[in-house]
Amino acid sequence: MGLSRGPLFWLLLGLLAAACSGILFVLYSSAAQPYGAPGARARNTTSFHEFFWSKNVNPGTRKRLPCGYPLYPAIQRHPHFRSLFNLSTPVLLQGGLFSQKLWDSLSQHKAPYGWQGLPRQAIVSTLSLLNSSDSARLFGDPQEPLPACVRCAVVGNGGILNGSRQGRNIDAHDYVFRLNGAVIKGFERDVGAKTSFYGFTVNTMKNSLIAYRSLGFTSVPQGQDLRYIFIPSDIRDYVMLRSAILGVPVPEGQDKGDSPGPTGPSMAGGLAPAPALSPPPASSMGWGALSTFIVGPRPQTYFGPEASARKFKLLHPDFISYLTERFLKSKFINTRFGDLYMPSTGALMLLTALHTCDQVSAYGFITSNYRKFSDHYFERIKKPLIFYVNHDLSLEASLWRDLHQAGILQLYQR
Ligand SMILES: *[C@@H]1O[C@H](CO)[C@@H](O)[C@H](O)[C@H]1NC(C)=O
Ligand SMILES: *[C@@H]1O[C@H](CO)[C@@H](O)[C@H](O)[C@H]1NC(C)=O
Ligand SMILES: *[C@@H]1O[C@H](CO)[C@@H](O)[C@H](O)[C@H]1NC(C)=O
Ligand SMILES: *[C@@H]1O[C@H](CO)[C@@H](O)[C@H](O)[C@H]1NC(C)=O
Repeated sequence: MGLSRGPLFWLLLGLLAAACSGILFVLYSSAAQPYGAPGARARNTTSFHEFFWSKNVNPGTRKRLPCGYPLYPAIQRHPHFRSLFNLSTPVLLQGGLFSQKLWDSLSQHKAPYGWQGLPRQAIVSTLSLLNSSDSARLFGDPQEPLPACVRCAVVGNGGILNGSRQGRNIDAHDYVFRLNGAVIKGFERDVGAKTSFYGFTVNTMKNSLIAYRSLGFTSVPQGQDLRYIFIPSDIRDYVMLRSAILGVPVPEGQDKGDSPGPTGPSMAGGLAPAPALSPPPASSMGWGALSTFIVGPRPQTYFGPEASARKFKLLHPDFISYLTERFLKSKFINTRFGDLYMPSTGALMLLTALHTCDQVSAYGFITSNYRKFSDHYFERIKKPLIFYVNHDLSLEASLWRDLHQAGILQLYQR
């Protein structure tokens, strides 16, 4: 889809030039192109009942066992996706991977793809806490055997789930991933209740807590077995992660989710109330300035009582680069909006699952008939999905459609 360069475009571009980071603009309010006919299922269902074995790949991943809908052989069968997927790419970043070489390499890229402009001390002190084997692995304890086939459901927050009655199907998976404004209470029949992983950036989490509070999102999912997946989109993610592991108050600075201003659809979808203070964004301040700014809430407020490294996972910036480059290389990247663009939280979680699970189902993700549904399943009045330039939801929709047709993903559609 191309950018339509009407007067609105140029107006927005002007606004953008004047704006500080984190403020997002509507570029257009509906998809610029249809996705093509859905449902031309290329799958041969017979073959799904065969057993497949695949090579052992990521640590934290196990790919040895039989599945009903195994994704590895589906990737191998597909001429295009076979060349895109590299299941050996490390998904998680942990302390043991830190080196001068990694520092030099990641310092060339801005977050979420790297560490350019971020204080080394903050990165190192966070990563040094992610030093156990738990930090390298998404699933299971070393002692605990994994299921024969690791079956994952990734639950986006799309309006397609309203009235879907998919709760039981979702909860029947070994692991359930949720993200951002994942309202569960009152929606169990449609979205299930189980949560194994909750994925977010500090910004999207805080925006969700503000924007969807009145719709029931009063806290992020918590639980003994639940793990949190940090997407390192800003220095604030490293700072929050460190505080969460240590169980100490978040030391300093302000997150974009604390600021007034419009926010993107999968980030908030609403206007945040204006707080009393409006300092510059944390990312523009030095580490020293950060340390003296505001003493934030205890991370337990968000993540519950347990503070320990095993509870928290961190996506590797190189993994986010790899995903963006190979799967979601949007045309936005080469526009002035390039710095705002990154794959959505939902996309990052779904692609994480596709690189770690043996079989993946996606629920509440964008489909070609998204206009039939509200933006989110928990809205009381239908609200159209709005496309912003920080994500490329059209591109994501085509990717889910194509992965589904290839049998690599089971995309819930109705
Ligand atoms: C589906 O796959 C099975 C086993 O691989 C094969 O025997 C069968 O002919 C295939 N069916 C179609 C319609 O391609
Ligand atoms: C896949 O990723 C691994 C780890 O980053 C790398 O060593 C390997 O060369 C990659 N393979 C291909 C075919 O790109
Ligand atoms: C990990 O780091 C913490 C804090 O620096 C330390 O107490 C712990 O012993 C380390 N664990 C391992 C396995 O190195
Ligand atoms: C959710 O679904 C119900 C019917 O199942 C419908 O009446 C309601 O309007 C839907 N809500 C939204 C926000 O679309």
